[in-house]
Amino acid sequence: MGHCIHTTGLNYFFSKKEQVLHDIHLHVPEGSIYGFLGPNGAGKTTTLRLLLGLLRQQSGDIHIFGQPFEPNRQSILGRIGSLIESPSLYSHLTARENLMIWQKVYQCPKNRIEAVLRLTGIADTGEKKTGQFSLGMKQRLGIAVALLHAPRLLILDEPTNGLDPGGIVEMRELLRQINQESGITIVISSHLLSEIEKLVTDVGIIHRGKMQFEGPLDELMRVRRSHSSLVIETGAPDKALALAQQTCGEARLINGKINLPHQDKTTIAALNHQFVMADIPVYQITGKEDDLESIFMQMTATTPTQNPLL
Ligand SMILES: Nc1ncnc2c1ncn2[C@@H]1O[C@H](COP(=O)(O)OP(=O)(O)OP(=O)(O)O)[C@@H](O)[C@H]1O
Ligand SMILES: [Mg+2]
Repeated sequence: MGHCIHTTGLNYFFSKKEQVLHDIHLHVPEGSIYGFLGPNGAGKTTTLRLLLGLLRQQSGDIHIFGQPFEPNRQSILGRIGSLIESPSLYSHLTARENLMIWQKVYQCPKNRIEAVLRLTGIADTGEKKTGQFSLGMKQRLGIAVALLHAPRLLILDEPTNGLDPGGIVEMRELLRQINQESGITIVISSHLLSEIEKLVTDVGIIHRGKMQFEGPLDELMRVRRSHSSLVIETGAPDKALALAQQTCGEARLINGKINLPHQDKTTIAALNHQFVMADIPVYQITGKEDDLESIFMQMTATTPTQNPLL
């Protein structure tokens, strides 16, 4: 699959002493919804600003749509829609009037205005001034502006910031719909994995200006599984522990229950069979999966020793 965005070796210094980005490699697949994750101050906005030419590139390469950014800047930017931080709107104008201004700037067909209003679900806001819009409506209008010129790539910096849980779900559905209907690639940054794990197909995790992980969401899920454990409650812990250690090697007793690293189904069944054959009552077998949030926390742990993935 082609890459919509491909960067290598991006470094960025705001001052001589402060290196904010270290050797950032991004590979955003064409047509994907790419979650760019990292805690506050990780370098998400700085990276996205570089991709949009809002900051001057200091090193490395940026390829977008298969073309090097600098010599093709104009034509590349003409095919990107973006929303960095909060949208800049004229608060004394309605949604339609705001879009009319941008339609003239972009010189795109007038019928795009109704199209993006419908797409973002704000077609019936009528005479309401955007100054009276809720935060969720403002974000929708910001996305409508970003989509006006029918871009191939949408870059959104924390579009769910400040939205309530319902608003976050609505935003997710909106972005999924946009991606599915028009095949547009979406890059969305967030500091909360739980907020976007249901939406994204690919993930990049940045911490202190360094990429910690990049790959399909499935791969992150596999990492999660490898961090999962098995807990078995029996009527004869010590006897059961000895058997479990024989079968699986690593096994520990925690609060009278056997704890094992992730096991495949066959091993679990075999172990259960052994317990039953040894007259050990088995009360409960449960799998405990680390949720993605805790894996994310481990990946972005402040010291390498706290980070089992490094
Ligand atoms: N204009 C600037 N001048 C100096 N330092 C800056 C500037 N903008 C950002 N930084 C620094 O760069 C680092 C990364 O900031 P950035 O805004 O890219 O992080 P972020 O991942 O977007 O964080 P957040 O989740 O809080 O938005 C921070 O340490 C920040 O203080
Ligand atoms: Mg930011």
